[in-house]
Amino acid sequence: MKDIVCFSLPGNEILTEQLSIKMDADIGNHIVSKFPDQETYVRVVTDVQDKAVVLICTLYEPNEKILPIYFLSRTAKSLGAKKVLLVAPYLAYMRQDKEFHKGEGLTSQYFGELMSTVVDAIITIDPHLHRITSLSEHYRIPNAVVHSGVEISRWIKDYINNPIIIGPDTESKQWVSDIALAVGVPHVVLGKIRHSANTVEIRLPEMVRYKNKVPVVVDDIISTAHTMIETVKHLKRAGMKPPVCIGIHAIFSGSSYQELLDCGVHSVVTCNTVRHPSNAIDLTNILASQITEMISNLT
Ligand code: R5P
Repeated sequence: MKDIVCFSLPGNEILTEQLSIKMDADIGNHIVSKFPDQETYVRVVTDVQDKAVVLICTLYEPNEKILPIYFLSRTAKSLGAKKVLLVAPYLAYMRQDKEFHKGEGLTSQYFGELMSTVVDAIITIDPHLHRITSLSEHYRIPNAVVHSGVEISRWIKDYINNPIIIGPDTESKQWVSDIALAVGVPHVVLGKIRHSANTVEIRLPEMVRYKNKVPVVVDDIISTAHTMIETVKHLKRAGMKPPVCIGIHAIFSGSSYQELLDCGVHSVVTCNTVRHPSNAIDLTNILASQITEMISNLT
């Protein structure tokens, strides 16, 4: 028996297997199911006494995942687990960190405070930090952020000849400039005005001198894909080659993946934080190292 036991929340089995191999951890045997009235049932079968327990659950469609995480965490603790960590490669509730309209709840903060009572530590990948600069502003437990930039840069170097890195909005500057530097190529950050959750307007600077390059658009989340689609349309109008679109988190609501594929892209590539056919950039090596480091700091 090893000192670390990883439990997969439903739908995270492949990621859990990959991480467990890389961390030399056991995969825990457990049951998460529902009673007829839809209450959550959990049972931890593997012995977790004196172990570090890692719950692996990407938080896409988060609401129904929170109670199983809570119950598993409480159960593991009651069975003698030393610490319970949540590994959420995609972390939800990072948008509503401000009262945009009177009466709105600061759900980003509330969620962070809630999760801080559920587990002992949290690890995520490139959370959507916008108006707050650190997870510690909302999470009162040890937390760590894994950055995908190095792996994205490596993928671009390996697969794209003569790229230029494009950021669709000013928020993307933080990752786009680092990636461009690591790849050793120029970058351009566009201007985006979001009119609503479903409408965005993109402003494109002068691109003539980059016409012989392959545009690689990099964004953290692809959700409705409107940001990517508008960017692709503008690049096309500017006479650029079909772009490669890279997203860290493949949310792809509704038919957005197909719409993006159909709008004139070269290809669509994402990291494996949310399971999706576009996943091509594997982050499990850097994620596994961060989990191991966090556990050794906690125990
Ligand atoms: C916004 O600030 C983010 O960085 C992404 O640009 C945004 O989440 C993309 O959303 P959508 O795919 O719905 O345009």
